[in-house]
Amino acid sequence: MSGSAISGSATTARPEPQRPQPPFGRRLCAVAANEASGGYRLFTLDDSEGPVPRAGQFYMLAAAEGWGRETGRPYLPRAFSVASAETADGGVRLGFLADSVGPGTRRLCDLEPGQRVWINGPLGRPFSEPAEVVPGAAGAILVGGGIGVAPLALLREELADRNVPVRTLLGFRDQRHSGGLDDLFACCEVRLASDDGHTGHRGYVTDLLAVLLEGDAARSAVVYSCGPPPMLEAVRAMCAERGVACQLALEAPMACGFGACFGCAVPLAEGGYMRLCVDGPVVGGEQIETAMVPGSGH
Ligand SMILES: Cc1cc2nc3c(=O)[nH]c(=O)nc-3n(C[C@H](O)[C@H](O)[C@H](O)COP(=O)(O)OP(=O)(O)OC[C@H]3O[C@@H](n4cnc5c(N)ncnc54)[C@H](O)[C@@H]3O)c2cc1C
Ligand code: FES
Repeated sequence: MSGSAISGSATTARPEPQRPQPPFGRRLCAVAANEASGGYRLFTLDDSEGPVPRAGQFYMLAAAEGWGRETGRPYLPRAFSVASAETADGGVRLGFLADSVGPGTRRLCDLEPGQRVWINGPLGRPFSEPAEVVPGAAGAILVGGGIGVAPLALLREELADRNVPVRTLLGFRDQRHSGGLDDLFACCEVRLASDDGHTGHRGYVTDLLAVLLEGDAARSAVVYSCGPPPMLEAVRAMCAERGVACQLALEAPMACGFGACFGCAVPLAEGGYMRLCVDGPVVGGEQIETAMVPGSGH
């Protein structure tokens, strides 16, 4: 399950971050808890066999019971970014933030403690530390939108553990599309934006980023972002214009999650394609011409 570009060398030229590898095959994990988190659900699974994941990695999830039994859908497992990872007795407790948008996410949002979930992961390429992206980079600016706040929660923890200064900007469309703040970002200062003004700055989270990027500190920072494709594309373009390095966690339709189906192919700026599940989902802003990946976003 190692990364490789279908063609082009942009992904192979990047320094490879340390990437925890999943055990072979899928495994059953018990649900520890499932609670409302703003407009989303936050559920945790106890994984006794897998390694501790890195922020930006994802898992393929399928409930053991009630998965496609009545209508045939959902059939394939669904991709989920890991939002928290706490080592517990004999394993790791994995947290996932879920937005109910269809049959698979609906079933996962309905999970009850004690029920079981098939998981495969951690998969994919994680975020890199600022100094791995740009030698001498000292800080991180996290920009999240909607359900995209999930992988940034774990990234914030990883960076805080390494004493990397982090500034966090989160944006939500409305109350239904906000979540994770009290549970995943309770311990840190966050600047908020919302399209409808129900919290923080009324407007886009990229308005807050534009202000930060004007400051001197931005020149030695790396921007990390996950969210809806139009937001990611705005972040990519703003960083490119100002010469600030960025890493973006993209989404694409994923059937297998480990490089076999080619369903997640994303064009590279230099030509050719990458499979987002093995060469991403975290990509450097310079690797792509646009973050508007066909078939992604909800
Ligand atoms: C690497 C990765 C990480 C993800 N992390 C999370 C997460 O942390 N939390 C979360 O709630 N969701 C996450 N998603 C999105 C999630 O996998 C999809 O929403 C899910 O597969 C939809 O399945 P469904 O059966 O509920 O709905 P479907 O009926 O399959 O789809 C419902 C709607 O969602 C859209 N959709 C389907 N698949 C995707 C996809 N892969 N990306 C974006 N939109 C999609 C469809 O176009 C449709 O509009 C992630 C996706 C990827 C690729
Ligand atoms: S999801 Fe199958 S190759 Fe990427």
